[in-house]
Amino acid sequence: MKFDVFTLFPEVLETYLHTSIMQRARARGLLEVNLHNIRDWATDKHHVTDDTPYGGGGGMVMKPEPIFAAVEGVLGVPPSCPVILLTPQGQCLTQNKAKDLARRSSHFALISGRYEGVDERVRQHLVTDEISIGDYVLTGGELPALVLMDVLARLIPGVLGDPLAAEQDSHATGLLEYPHYTRPPEFRGWEVPEILRSGHHARIERWRREQSLLRTWRRRPEMLENVELTEEEREFLGRQERGDEG
Ligand SMILES: C[S@@+](CC[C@H](N)C(=O)[O-])C[C@H]1O[C@@H](n2cnc3c(N)ncnc32)[C@H](O)[C@@H]1O
Repeated sequence: MKFDVFTLFPEVLETYLHTSIMQRARARGLLEVNLHNIRDWATDKHHVTDDTPYGGGGGMVMKPEPIFAAVEGVLGVPPSCPVILLTPQGQCLTQNKAKDLARRSSHFALISGRYEGVDERVRQHLVTDEISIGDYVLTGGELPALVLMDVLARLIPGVLGDPLAAEQDSHATGLLEYPHYTRPPEFRGWEVPEILRSGHHARIERWRREQSLLRTWRRRPEMLENVELTEEEREFLGRQERGDEG
């Protein structure tokens, strides 16, 4: 998968992309990320990329010319891949949204805004998709770009050591994931559930599924509306609701 990221602060993304799974994915050729500094496409003497808003008010707005020049200079006219603007006004990023994007293309341009955001003409005439990483406002689109690339990178076959890990993650199954434990078996008197140490795979699978259902039911009950449950699982949750069990 390939990303061309357009930002005023490429250095913000560097460390993360050079760390752990992202670094390994890049080294193995599974992921390519090209960082482009929008300022390099500003043609005036001082490489100005922002200006005051028409109509007044505080803050600065990112000018359209350097953004168009950067994206079209790298990706052609029209750009050869979807152009995603990171914005709190976009569609909310979910695991399903990430899967849809990954199915749609293996190459994306990402535009990270700053200040009050980008001139509206960028959104209208250059951008194909708008993505928000949540209902809150950050100072810039660099973290959202990293978040989006990270979510999509995990979906690339071979990026995660365990090929099943991403399939079992919270949200990938429509449920929250079951709890994890590692050694030691006892820490400060808190024990790892006996069943996980039993080596009995079928029982462990069943326990994990029940824990997953239980967690989802307790923390995010609305998620259960979109999950197909077996009769047995429905009964299990029914017993929880009646307070028959744990
Ligand atoms: C301070 S924000 C601008 C917010 C804008 N004035 C508004 O109210 O919609 C600056 C930049 O940060 C990025 N950003 C902030 N919050 C975000 C979010 N939740 N999701 C995606 N990008 C975000 C966007 O790229 C945005 O252009």
